[in-house]
Amino acid sequence: MNTLIYPGSFDPFTNGHVDIASRAALLCDRLLIVILTNRAKKQHFDADTRVAMARLAMEGVDNVEVEKFDGLLVDYYRRVDATAVVRGLRSQSDFRFEAEIAAANKLLLPSYETCLLPCRPDLAFTSSSLVREVASYGGDISGMVPKALVSIIQKHLNNNKPAALQPD
Ligand code: PNS
Repeated sequence: MNTLIYPGSFDPFTNGHVDIASRAALLCDRLLIVILTNRAKKQHFDADTRVAMARLAMEGVDNVEVEKFDGLLVDYYRRVDATAVVRGLRSQSDFRFEAEIAAANKLLLPSYETCLLPCRPDLAFTSSSLVREVASYGGDISGMVPKALVSIIQKHLNNNKPAALQPD
C-alpha cells in the first residue's frame, strides 16, 4: 500500500490545498492529510476545526483521510509507514522553505522522502494568510476556499480586526 502524507497547518484549508490534495490522491492508494502545529506561526483555528474544515473540503474523495497529530512530522511518518510526504509549491520562496524542511526531516529519518507538486498557476497567490486577512475585514473569500468553508471561516474571523498577514 502506497501512502502519501500531506502535512500542514491548513489554517484554514484553501482551494490551493484542495488542488494539491486532489492531485496527490491520484498518485497513491491512500492520502493522509495531517494537521500539525507550525511553531513558527500563530494558529488561528484550533486543530479540531482545521480537521473538520479539511474533511468538508475533501468530501467525496475516497482515498483521503484527515487527522491531527501533535508532534514531529517524522514520528507521524514512521507511525503510518508512509511512502513520502507531499507539499505544494507556489513560488521560489516556498521552494527555499520546502528544501529546508525536507533536509531537516531527512536528517531525522533517512527513509523520509518528499514530493513537491507545483500549484495550479491560477492559485499561486491563494494562501491561508490572505484568506484570513480578507475574511477579517468581511471581504468575499468564496473564490479562495471551498463553498462549504466560507461561512465557518467568516464566523470565526469576521470581527473587522485585521489578522496578521504571516507568510504560509
Ligand atoms: O502549512 P505549513 O505551516 O507550511 O506546515 C508546516 C508544517 C506543519 C508541516 C511543519 O511546521 C511541521 O512539520 N510541523 C510539525 C513539527 C515538526 O516536525 N517540525 C520539524 C519540521 S522541520
